[in-house]
Amino acid sequence: MKHVRTSVLKAGMIVATDVIANGNTLVFPKGYVLTDRAIARLESYEIGDIRIEDPVDCEVEEIENEGGSAAPEITVNTIEEPSHFEKLKASEEFQAFKASFTENVNGLRSNLNEIVEKNTPINVDNMIGDTMRIISAQGNTFGVFDMLHNMRDFDDLTYAHSMNVAMICNVFARWLNFSEDSVKLATACGMMHDIGKLKIPDEIIKKPGKLTDEEYRMIKSHPLEGYNILKSQNISEHIKLAALEHHEKCDGSGYPMKLTREKIDGYAKIVAIADVYDAMTANRVYREGLCPFRVIEIFEEEGLQKYEIPYIMKFLENVVNTYIENRVMISDGRIGTIRWINKQRLSKPMLQMADGTFLELDKSPGLSIEKIL
Ligand SMILES: [Fe+2]
Ligand SMILES: [Fe+2]
Repeated sequence: MKHVRTSVLKAGMIVATDVIANGNTLVFPKGYVLTDRAIARLESYEIGDIRIEDPVDCEVEEIENEGGSAAPEITVNTIEEPSHFEKLKASEEFQAFKASFTENVNGLRSNLNEIVEKNTPINVDNMIGDTMRIISAQGNTFGVFDMLHNMRDFDDLTYAHSMNVAMICNVFARWLNFSEDSVKLATACGMMHDIGKLKIPDEIIKKPGKLTDEEYRMIKSHPLEGYNILKSQNISEHIKLAALEHHEKCDGSGYPMKLTREKIDGYAKIVAIADVYDAMTANRVYREGLCPFRVIEIFEEEGLQKYEIPYIMKFLENVVNTYIENRVMISDGRIGTIRWINKQRLSKPMLQMADGTFLELDKSPGLSIEKIL
């Protein structure tokens, strides 16, 4: 048998020993014949190499000849179905999305820098054109939200985040039944909302630890910086106000002006929700992104009154709906399928468990959804 890297595996090869992930999950049993999909599954488990039966009818990079080391003792009875996100990551749809997203973020980086450095006139239609095309190219199998959740390997906090927020605003405006022009405007507001951050030193934006008071003050200056960059541009006032007001909260607890509900621009309110959602679900240097249900729970705990109520309700309901019929893991380690959304408590839907019984999460204190499988 040979030890072969996953990157050079080919369909048709035969697995020589049980492939185990995460300590006790049987991915493939000994004797399994690999397919392209199966290889993609190994990648999604981040398994770097496996043992393959001889003879291997292709040139592969062999890591070492096996001396027959004993496999770990594990009792597993069933082969796990690929999870929702594994299926997504292995799909052509996702690969195409990832390629266009990366290209688009690079385009956005140069666009935003030109605006900041040279005050280049903004052509909104050009700027959002590719993004609008990527979103409308999405089929129904996986939504834009699903795609974004799996695009978390970007190590930049402004450009990829701006693109995420633009896409979330786009989908969100459609959920709110906005006209096509308003959807475009919401997308543009999301794309430029953090332009002021380009005026703040990178070391502060990317600093993983606690910020000093002075650093915090600098970060909090980005809405006003953004407004100043955009104010002389011949673009919709909403784009300028979204940059200025996206950290305001309806109860007056936001910044920089502590505006209250009726004073905050409607598009800034949309960006505010998309912005917080993206920030919480994104991976950071110091923590993994939160599960969408945990984010919804935080929104519910911290008070929906910070946001425009009809907007936040529409947003959270639709995010939850994206995951209906998905398998999830709850905080005690059990696995269930989301069957019924509870409109009073969106973070706590009703689940059907592996043994067929139903579990009402809102009536089960201490239990919550930890992970979407
Ligand atoms: Fe911001
Ligand atoms: Fe932001």
